[in-house]
Amino acid sequence: MSKVTTKREGEVLVVTLDNPPVNAFSTEVRNAMAAAVEDAASDDGVKAVVIRAEGRMFSGGADITEFGKAPVHPTLPELIDSIENLDKPVVAALNGTALGGGCEIALGCNYRIGVPATKIGLPEVKIGILPGAGGTQRLPRVVGVEEALPIIVTGNPVSAKKAEAIGLLDRIVAPERLREEAIAFAREVAGGSEHPVSSKRTDRIDAHDPGVFKAFREKNARRLKGLDAPARCIEAVELATQLSYDEGIAKEREFFMELVMGDQSKALRHVFFAERQAGKIDGLPKDAVPLPIRKVGIIGAGTMGGGIAMNFLSAGYDVTIVEREQEALDRGVGIIRKNYDATARKGRMTEEQVEKAMGHLSTSLDYQDLADCDLVIEAVFELMAIKKDVFGKLDAICKPDAIMASNTSYLDVNEIAACTSRPEQVVGLHFFSPANIMRLLEVVRGEKTSPQVMATAMDLAKKIGKVAVVSGVCHGFIGNRMLAKRQEQASELLMEGARPAQVDKVLTDFGFPMGPFQMADLAGLDIGWDPEKTSSATVREVLCERGRRGQKTGKGFYDYDENRQRTPSDEVDAVIADFAAKSGEEQRDISDEEIRERLLYPMVNEGALILEEGVSQRASDIDTVWVNGYGWPPHTGGPMFWADTIGLDSVLAGLEKHGMEVSQLLREKAAKGETFNG
Ligand code: 3HC
Ligand code: NAI
Repeated sequence: MSKVTTKREGEVLVVTLDNPPVNAFSTEVRNAMAAAVEDAASDDGVKAVVIRAEGRMFSGGADITEFGKAPVHPTLPELIDSIENLDKPVVAALNGTALGGGCEIALGCNYRIGVPATKIGLPEVKIGILPGAGGTQRLPRVVGVEEALPIIVTGNPVSAKKAEAIGLLDRIVAPERLREEAIAFAREVAGGSEHPVSSKRTDRIDAHDPGVFKAFREKNARRLKGLDAPARCIEAVELATQLSYDEGIAKEREFFMELVMGDQSKALRHVFFAERQAGKIDGLPKDAVPLPIRKVGIIGAGTMGGGIAMNFLSAGYDVTIVEREQEALDRGVGIIRKNYDATARKGRMTEEQVEKAMGHLSTSLDYQDLADCDLVIEAVFELMAIKKDVFGKLDAICKPDAIMASNTSYLDVNEIAACTSRPEQVVGLHFFSPANIMRLLEVVRGEKTSPQVMATAMDLAKKIGKVAVVSGVCHGFIGNRMLAKRQEQASELLMEGARPAQVDKVLTDFGFPMGPFQMADLAGLDIGWDPEKTSSATVREVLCERGRRGQKTGKGFYDYDENRQRTPSDEVDAVIADFAAKSGEEQRDISDEEIRERLLYPMVNEGALILEEGVSQRASDIDTVWVNGYGWPPHTGGPMFWADTIGLDSVLAGLEKHGMEVSQLLREKAAKGETFNG
């Protein structure tokens, strides 16, 4: 079956793209579409063309799997030029999302019509490149520089309504009528002699404010620091205002080739495919089909319970939250309501959507109300005795095929499962805080968790918009286990003479949004600290004792002013120096390079142990955890990909130099010149 078919509707040639799952413009598709365009050109009976697509979207763009290989003709730019050069009007019918090359194809057409669900965007920047099939030159000519810049530089798509308002869509029609409306539109314009040609338009470019580029660069400087692609995106749009179309296109091509061969794009493409791969469980039997989940129970209305509930409420699931006391329940529900209202105020939800979500929520102080839930997620205090008590109760109450999940951060899911009569139905669902926002979900597979329960958890994660990664049972699972290694070194470095601000800066320079001490101040130093049992045994404890409990008290590892601006603290330095002296540690100057190696290499080594033990299915899953849950800079690909990039022999040498543990797997791979992501 051809991936591009043509059909005559009177004088209109309807060209249909059909390349599931995302209608990517693979070599085969480009060839077939180029042939269709040639047919249209050579057939005098054809007076107009409609380009449309089958499936749930118009197109996800170029086939990313072909990147990095030698270009094959016709290239996407060549195909789009041939569409634009047709001396017959071409109408793009956008049945859904049109991204990247999909948007660029539409820009090569004379007219574009969509449906209310159509989204148009140029997300190339997210995979470290820039639109390379004319997007940087045609889009500003069609919608103007001011509108084109954010679309190209953030990579976020615009809605149909917005697209129509800025001149990117000519019409919006009902989805069931799209095909016939597109044909009617094509007939309507077929007789005309003049049709808008994106590359030839100058009106929008001429009208641009010359100060827009400087202002845009300044406004986004912090967010875009160190990233190659956004800088080139801005430059390319700026060139669209200074050069002829052909010269601009030549620059776009040059930038595209430079970026696509660069390390940042390789890393970001790795992140893209790693996220999708993470959702797959190796060796899962075919009959492990997901169970239907309609009603979800949540135990505990605290920080996590409330956030977890919001995921399901927003996705339309019925949710029952059970608490042990009315006050906690009221507080938790109040926070959910407040969060939704804030989202509505920001325009990200309508009042109607908020009420709809809240309408799915019921609350109770009685576990018995969980009896008809398909899934129950426990988010009570992190204490094994309480978890066991809760799971014992659930075992007695839940219906026979219900899934029972724990949101535990560290505890042994096998031990929790063992206190039920059905450990095969127990799984860890480790959400990250704030759970309504963070995309990562570690799905913790117990020794006895059934394949069907795993399949259900992965399927459900996708439905609530999470990136799910499978982890085996171990202390802290994939993410927190590796984080512990970094924290250990961060504390040790302070004893040896590094300052909190220096340690944090090394990580923010690397691309993390914040360092460990900034993070501690934000979260609160007193998490897990009990003033009744304090023993002054660690720097953190002493800081808590002195009222330095983080941003909320105006001071922690740093001092904060009323605008939450931080400055290093002499008091903290003195506390650290005091600890160092007591332990006989001599403080010295430590280089940034040593700090970076000592913070990051042990994480890579722990990742290797996690792989060796089979806790993680694949190295790319570890990268997915760190990019989505802990702010690892995506343009370096995640810890394991980054280690591959710098060379495992370098990582090994660094670990040995600092007298650190080296796993067998890392040693072997380094010796053989292999990589983790193979
Ligand atoms: N090329 C190759 N494969 C792609 C692809 C693409 N552009 N987009 C998606 N896929 C694959 C995915 O890897 C996945 O494969 P799998 O089933 O084997 O894991 C499958 O298609 C389905 O993808 P999703 O699970 O992501 O499907 P969703 O429905 O959730 O999302 C989407 C669809 C919004 C289109 C999303 O896939 C996406 O954002 N794709 C990438 C879009 C993009 O970056 N386009 C620009 C490409 S570069 C370009 O066009 C260059 C040009 O300027 C020259
Ligand atoms: P929290 O203290 O904010 O909330 C716990 C809630 O559980 C309280 O409202 C409490 O009243 C309720 N509760 C306690 N025992 C109960 C019982 N037997 N029955 C019903 N309700 C009960 O705690 P938080 O932070 O929400 O943590 C919950 C779980 O999530 C813990 O296991 C924690 O390790 C885990 N977790 C926490 C993260 C975080 O950043 N806070 C991140 C990921 C996981």
